Amino acid sequence: MTGSIAPESKYWPRKRYFELYDESVRHPEEFWAEEARQLDWFRTWDKVLEWDLPFARWFVGGELNASYLCVDRHIATARKNKVALYWEGEPGDTRVLSYATLYREVNRCASVLKNLGVVKGDKVALYLPMIPELPIFMLACGRIGATFTVVFSGFTAQALADRINDLQAKVLVTADAGYRRGSPVPLKRTTDEAMDLSPSVEKAVVVNRAGLDVEMKSGRDFWYHHLLSEASDHVDPEPVEASHPLYVLYTSGTTGKPKGVVHSTGGYMVYNHSAFKWVFDAKEESVFWCTADIGWVTGHSYIVYAPLAFGATSVMYEGAPNYPDLGRWWDIIQTYRVNILYTSPTAIRMFMQAGEEWSAKHDLSSLDLLGSVGEPINPEAWLWYFKHIGGERCPIVDTWWQTETGGILIAQAPAIELPPLKPGSASFALPGIDPQVVNEKGEPTAPGERGLLIIKKPWPGMLMTLYGDPERYKEVYWSRFPGSYYTGDYAIQDEEGYFWLLGRADEVLKVAGHRLGTLELENAAVAFGPVAEAAAVSKPDPVKGEAIVIFAILREGHEPSSALEKELNAHIRSTVGPIATPERVFFVKKLPKTRSGKIMRRLLKAVATEAVIGDVTTLEDGASMDEVKAAYEALRKEI
Ligand code: PRX
Repeated sequence: MTGSIAPESKYWPRKRYFELYDESVRHPEEFWAEEARQLDWFRTWDKVLEWDLPFARWFVGGELNASYLCVDRHIATARKNKVALYWEGEPGDTRVLSYATLYREVNRCASVLKNLGVVKGDKVALYLPMIPELPIFMLACGRIGATFTVVFSGFTAQALADRINDLQAKVLVTADAGYRRGSPVPLKRTTDEAMDLSPSVEKAVVVNRAGLDVEMKSGRDFWYHHLLSEASDHVDPEPVEASHPLYVLYTSGTTGKPKGVVHSTGGYMVYNHSAFKWVFDAKEESVFWCTADIGWVTGHSYIVYAPLAFGATSVMYEGAPNYPDLGRWWDIIQTYRVNILYTSPTAIRMFMQAGEEWSAKHDLSSLDLLGSVGEPINPEAWLWYFKHIGGERCPIVDTWWQTETGGILIAQAPAIELPPLKPGSASFALPGIDPQVVNEKGEPTAPGERGLLIIKKPWPGMLMTLYGDPERYKEVYWSRFPGSYYTGDYAIQDEEGYFWLLGRADEVLKVAGHRLGTLELENAAVAFGPVAEAAAVSKPDPVKGEAIVIFAILREGHEPSSALEKELNAHIRSTVGPIATPERVFFVKKLPKTRSGKIMRRLLKAVATEAVIGDVTTLEDGASMDEVKAAYEALRKEI
């Protein structure tokens, strides 16, 4: 391996972790300015940070373009003919895009958008499978200054329509279908249903992925390949101010309505660029594979923006990890000689359960670094990953972050200094990030004591606001511990300063690494006619981390039955999406509530996991032990 893909700078990579970290938090503005200088700007910023708590504007007055950074700046260099993307479709078809071809595709796509009347500041919704057109449209939107939202292609028409309506997207981009487990999943049909509910959409672009015969509404729906035939090969990148919103990504919170997390262009690009170089330590010839779907933030940051900004080579795969069999991923690693693999604990646990014979059949010797993201990785899965995938030679970077943080905040940073690895700990904060574990009162906890994770300083990758709802942004993230960003996660910092991330402290579930709000699920359950009231909780799951359990009260005239349970499951699945399918439904007569009317979730969780009452150690707020006990006994009897 040759040297790092990232050019040296004043701060990196010559300094060791603690020295660099101290300097970064002591002089954050100088530090971030130096990091920002590694990108190409059309105009330099006047001010590094304008901090009007809790609203941050980074690199004020600076002008840049995300698509320029990801493609244009490479085509004048030797990277012009380097592979940007190795793409593999689920049926086995492949596409290889060099930086030069990606540049051409992005320009032509930007021209298509312009010809459709999309201008700077317009909103575009992307509902696409994992095909190269997804990053191409993301880059093309950024090129002309349009703000986009990617909607995960597993979401339902209602979920898609909610997001389009919130953003008031003018153009919707989709495909006839995408492949999943051997068959095309029709997407155009779903978008037709969504568009009936979304009057803001004037035009829809349809990518031909599977050759399906779809209905096209004249004057509204256009095949992408037809529009391309009129497109020009060059569109100038539009310089945008650093705070120009690059994208909005919807994620679940504690209320029923998904939150539109708004990311800037300048701060987001700078932060991701830095986090990628510290954590993944990519070399010029490295092949990087992030297995996430671009529908989630991990795919935005680590399939599209960070690797492309560096001119790295990435792999992108369309389909299911177990199609046609459990060897598919290992075959991809062997074929493309992947060096860095970034995946989720859920996937690792799935492979672990299936047994190591699948990976053992393939040559994984190209791997030299492994990553994990999305949920806590249990030591058993960590050790399996280390042994059977990494051949006991690859360090594992456990990366903690959120949709809101834009990029990785807590993780090992092998490019600076690799600390001794502790399976299950994400280790230390990246430079410039100032986390702390505190108790309910906001006081720092003692080493080893569980508390809530907060971030005490703004950082360039942080969300700017929630789309159209700055009050909610203040309330959700900045009201609980004034002056600090509240992550909603439990954490422990041990005697040696390592962070252990323990999962959500709020009413958000993590099912197979995907975020789901309990209220979102409860609203979906109650929208099913026979259900009068519902509560959603989770129980531990050996593969998915958490599985959904619903407690539901039926309306008069309806009796519990397994047929009704199936119908309710199907209803939730079709309202929220397949990832929201409950594992179990309990029909009950009464939901235990505190005197203030809050559902006793910890108690429900204890019932769902068949824990004994002694395990319901933490009392529900506002309920006495006797009340909790009585409610617990009553429920156990009932189910
Ligand atoms: O609870 C934490 C968990 O995932 C949440 C963020 O979810 P989302 O916005 O969907 O982003 C996922 C990908 C960045 C966090 O609040 N989480 C994420 N990474 C880890 C984690 N929990 C433990 N360890 C991690 N490495």
